[in-house]
Amino acid sequence: VEVDLQAIQDELVAIAYEAGKMILAANPVDIAMGSKINAVDIVTEADQAVEKMVSTRLSSKFPEVSFMGEETYKPGMKLGPEPTFVVDPIDGTTNFVHSFPNACISLGLAVERRSTVGVIYNPWQDLLFTAIKGRGAFMQRGKSSTPQRLPLAKTPGPLNGLGEALVAIEWGAHRDGPNYDLKVDVFRKLAASKETGGSMVHSLRSLGSAALNIACVAAGEMDVYWEGGCWAWDVCAGWCILEEAGGIMASGNPGNFDPEMDSRVYLAVRGAPSGQKEIVEEFWKVMGDKAL
Ligand code: IPD
Repeated sequence: VEVDLQAIQDELVAIAYEAGKMILAANPVDIAMGSKINAVDIVTEADQAVEKMVSTRLSSKFPEVSFMGEETYKPGMKLGPEPTFVVDPIDGTTNFVHSFPNACISLGLAVERRSTVGVIYNPWQDLLFTAIKGRGAFMQRGKSSTPQRLPLAKTPGPLNGLGEALVAIEWGAHRDGPNYDLKVDVFRKLAASKETGGSMVHSLRSLGSAALNIACVAAGEMDVYWEGGCWAWDVCAGWCILEEAGGIMASGNPGNFDPEMDSRVYLAVRGAPSGQKEIVEEFWKVMGDKAL
């Protein structure tokens, strides 16, 4: 299937703006019934309504492109090599439910299981991130402003190891079992002093949205984002934006974001003239041999 990446990006941006209006107008207390894993894995009626709007618009405009969305995903679904939209209608649902104004719609296109177009939009800040593989990544703060190329710094500085990094992390929904134990262990080691076996990063941040964490790393506003337990729709759009901004995405399964894969560990590192590989190696040591 041949696809026009620019036409796809234009439509994804138009959809993101429509979704933004729906999200701002929605009532976040309308929690939907669903098959989520536990009481902190929340889905609202707005998540479902936005995904419906997105899939309807995309299937009428690009019927040849497959679709995978967070709210309609069923165990057993695979991300194939054919062009596929990978969509999270509201990434940061917990923030949305609490009226914490930091969530987004995350719209990606995967081709050959690689992120090829990414659009992320935070309607509270009217903040848009876009990228097409090979054509650069951009951030637009306010619809009438000029898009800025990412990273925002003209000359990003070198990465001097975890000890000098601002690191984004997320708790995610797993609150017991091996995934929870891994997170607690990694967070402790990141924060702890060198004397107690830690890397003592400058600090840890949690924006509450995987996609916005990745976008911040792409912009160069944070150095690293790590999460154990992300889904394809959390990372697909951000992945292209990050790479086009000179960043790298390392993962337990390199280059692969199949929702059915064993390891769903993702590590995003910002663009830098040096120090990217070293920080990835340092991070894998923090994780030890505990893959998910
Ligand atoms: C979640 C958010 C959260 C992250 C989870 C994601 P959702 O997405 O991005 O910050 O920790 O791993 O699944 O449920 O809000 O779409």
